[in-house]
Amino acid sequence: MQDGRTTFAAWEQDLDRFLIAPEEIQARVQELGQAITNHYANVDELTLVAIINGALPFTADLMRSIQRPVRLDCIRVSSYQDQTRPASKPQILDRIHLDLHDRHVLIIDDILDTGHTMKRVMRELQQEKPASLALCVLLQKEDRLEVAVKPDFVGFGIPDEFVVGYGLDFAERYRNLPGIGVLKAECQNPPEWN
Ligand code: IMP
Ligand code: MG
Repeated sequence: MQDGRTTFAAWEQDLDRFLIAPEEIQARVQELGQAITNHYANVDELTLVAIINGALPFTADLMRSIQRPVRLDCIRVSSYQDQTRPASKPQILDRIHLDLHDRHVLIIDDILDTGHTMKRVMRELQQEKPASLALCVLLQKEDRLEVAVKPDFVGFGIPDEFVVGYGLDFAERYRNLPGIGVLKAECQNPPEWN
């Protein structure tokens, strides 16, 4: 099997710099899984709601480090499309299917930036009257929150730069990088991607 850094090196030309190595992500995911396991020690079953597509790799790894029974569902929210800043207010594109009434629900996303996406998802899920609603994000951009959202579990605080990898994309690219890096400005709008 290829070592994480070697795989990552193939993307080097598009990145300004690496921010978080694959090994660091995996170690932190284990810690988050442990914290979540402890937090829900007295809960029979936890319902995970992943915000796709970005939360896919994080959710896949995180759910396997949670040592409690879980159910999984996904919600799709309108994305940045081909921009690095949101074009419009987040809209729910695909709803969840599980019943959340009286359930303990944990929302999972790749990154908390302004918080508008998370706020929109929370409003949607709160209508189902869950027993509890908590938030877990792998990354949080520092000093960017524009709404009152407080994540319960955060992997890493990062500076306000456009990052890709481990689920985070630009125009649906780079999601499969095993680590996280800052995307070069000139790679943020290549005409051949339109
Ligand atoms: P928010 O609504 O501003 O908090 O943005 C959250 C969503 O924006 C995340 O689910 C990501 O899809 C996307 N996002 C925010 N910052 C970045 C970034 O640096 N790279 C890639 N996607 C990002
Ligand atoms: Mg996302």
